[in-house]
Amino acid sequence: EKAHIYITRKIPEVMLQPFQSAFSFRMWEKEDEPVPREILLEEVRNADAVMCVLSEKIDEEFFLAAPKVKIVANMAVGYDNMDIQAAKRHNVILTNTPDVLTETTADLGFSLLMAVARRIVEANQFIKKNQWKNWSPLLLAGTDIHHKTIGIVGMGRIGEAIARRAKGFNMDIVYHNRSRNKEAEERLQAIWLPFEQLIQEADFVVSVIPLTDETYHLFDELAFKKMKDSAIFINISRGAVVDEGALVNALESNQIRAAGLDVFEKEPIASNHPLMNLENVVCLPHIGSATKETREKMMALCLENIDSVLRNQGPKTPI
Ligand code: GLV
Ligand code: GLV
Repeated sequence: EKAHIYITRKIPEVMLQPFQSAFSFRMWEKEDEPVPREILLEEVRNADAVMCVLSEKIDEEFFLAAPKVKIVANMAVGYDNMDIQAAKRHNVILTNTPDVLTETTADLGFSLLMAVARRIVEANQFIKKNQWKNWSPLLLAGTDIHHKTIGIVGMGRIGEAIARRAKGFNMDIVYHNRSRNKEAEERLQAIWLPFEQLIQEADFVVSVIPLTDETYHLFDELAFKKMKDSAIFINISRGAVVDEGALVNALESNQIRAAGLDVFEKEPIASNHPLMNLENVVCLPHIGSATKETREKMMALCLENIDSVLRNQGPKTPI
């Protein structure tokens, strides 16, 4: 009998073709809605492997419901949705999708930074709402990007790729990370700073840091108070590294100038959330890695990890 794989979100059938002869597949039929928990727990009962997305909690309850599962492949580089200790207890391999999305996510991060600094979204609305009367000296005047200081919080692969882009804009690069990134220091003249100092000195504070117990609400009331009142805050990692209430307060009271957010504490964020009413905030629906090319690479990598583990050859990108 073929090994059985459950996929928690609808993906294109063509992605499965290389593996159809070796495995049997079932997948949740919707692309834009997560599988209900009780259906997930039922579906994984006889699965040898599971491919999931970040809306699924891969926790003790999941592992108890999936006694045969050998690998859970997360279609994301971040894995805060997975309980690593529980996976260890149940002897299950976890994989993520690093590297394939690095440049794409950095592109989005830098796009968001530029969109906020130069008020691109407001300007687009302005013209489409027929508000453009004439050229005027301070019409939609934003803030410079070049020669400013970018503060990158989380200097992993994506942080470094953002730093390379910043270098091209002649920005000064400061970063904070648990461990020093000597290569970035040498190649990009990036300077390591303590978190407290980084947030005080940076014109752009960019969060690329994974969500862990230590980074939960790292950007809190005090952090926003310490930032420059001209600071622009960008978050492309996980919503919960930010205390969103504190961010709303900081924006409303002009403690910082503006924000660009691809991630939120609760996703999808409600359209009546206070952040949605602020002109100086650009919001995106968690699309950091969302190009067709990269999403296909992420899907393929998940399936290759599963294929490799089920053939007893070990995971390609273990967590
Ligand atoms: C998406 O947020 C990811 O972690 O890949
Ligand atoms: C985050 O996971 C990164 O690779 O920067």
